[in-house]
Amino acid sequence: MKGFLDLADLGREGVLDLLRLAERLRRSPEPTALAGRVLGLLFFNPSLRTLSSMQVAMTRLGGTSFVITPGTGSWQLESRDGVVMNGAAAEHVREAIPVLASYCDALGVRAFADGRDLARDLAEPAISQIESLCHVPLINLESAVNHPCQALADWRTLDDLGVPRNGKLVLSWVNHPRALPLAVPAAVAHMAALRGMEVVVLRPDGFALPPAIMEKARQAAALAGGRVAETADRDAAISGAHVVYAKEWGLTAPYGDAEADGRARAGLTNWTLRESWFRRAQPDCRLMHCLPVRRNLAVADEVLDGPRSVVIQQAHNRLTVQVAVLHRLLAGTDPQD
Ligand code: CP
Repeated sequence: MKGFLDLADLGREGVLDLLRLAERLRRSPEPTALAGRVLGLLFFNPSLRTLSSMQVAMTRLGGTSFVITPGTGSWQLESRDGVVMNGAAAEHVREAIPVLASYCDALGVRAFADGRDLARDLAEPAISQIESLCHVPLINLESAVNHPCQALADWRTLDDLGVPRNGKLVLSWVNHPRALPLAVPAAVAHMAALRGMEVVVLRPDGFALPPAIMEKARQAAALAGGRVAETADRDAAISGAHVVYAKEWGLTAPYGDAEADGRARAGLTNWTLRESWFRRAQPDCRLMHCLPVRRNLAVADEVLDGPRSVVIQQAHNRLTVQVAVLHRLLAGTDPQD
């Protein structure tokens, strides 16, 4: 494995192999496997789980890590080509990425979507540019339209819970004060489809996932024997569901229009996930969310604090699977000079 950018790069067998490694390392930890190795972590956007779990994962394998957060303690970074750098950014990624890569054995990067131009965000310009500048394995810690570490942890959580391979997962839009990126819904829809599940994307009008994201999920489903559908009909969607995966994302029609997004979501106050949503679900239907979650706006206390919620288990599994990602990328390879 040369990097970890997208579960699609691994395919279904590759993901299953990585999950087997995660379980092996959970049962039989290897506390010196990455002794002397260094993981660089570059966060253009905030994080609680990804930042801490990547550092802990590296430590559990005997390695170490450093964190750079541009603009807060280190230079703001420019990424546009050909610009006169007379603004806030003092350094360009063209220098910063090769320099950071020269200090570490693998580099993890979080770079969210710009959120203005859908075609541009779908093309993943930031992580692609960084990949082209990085000579060590690159780990996607959430890019414009992907979050493979989250998706891998969620697959593991579904397995832990005994959710059938062909079970029904409803990826439901829930409320939030403003537009959030498409990375997690895109990654979760693809992951569940690749697992072979019946995936239903439940969302209000105007919030349909872009065709390219749905098509990627459908292609994974076709390979794995799953199905992918999309609807605004809540009762029909959740009927028989094994899992409701709550997630917030921005208006997609039109995309990147903050005023239109605000007007659209003003009428969607009934999209706070409540216990009543589960009346037609499987009796033991679970609530998943990648976190952070806004209580009583996205998901009601009664669900988050009730027996359906597995959000803490999901977050813990970030650590479990990332140990495997780092081990697969670095164990047995030569260290950087
Ligand atoms: N789910 C997730 O990626 O959490 P953070 O944004 O806190 O890293």
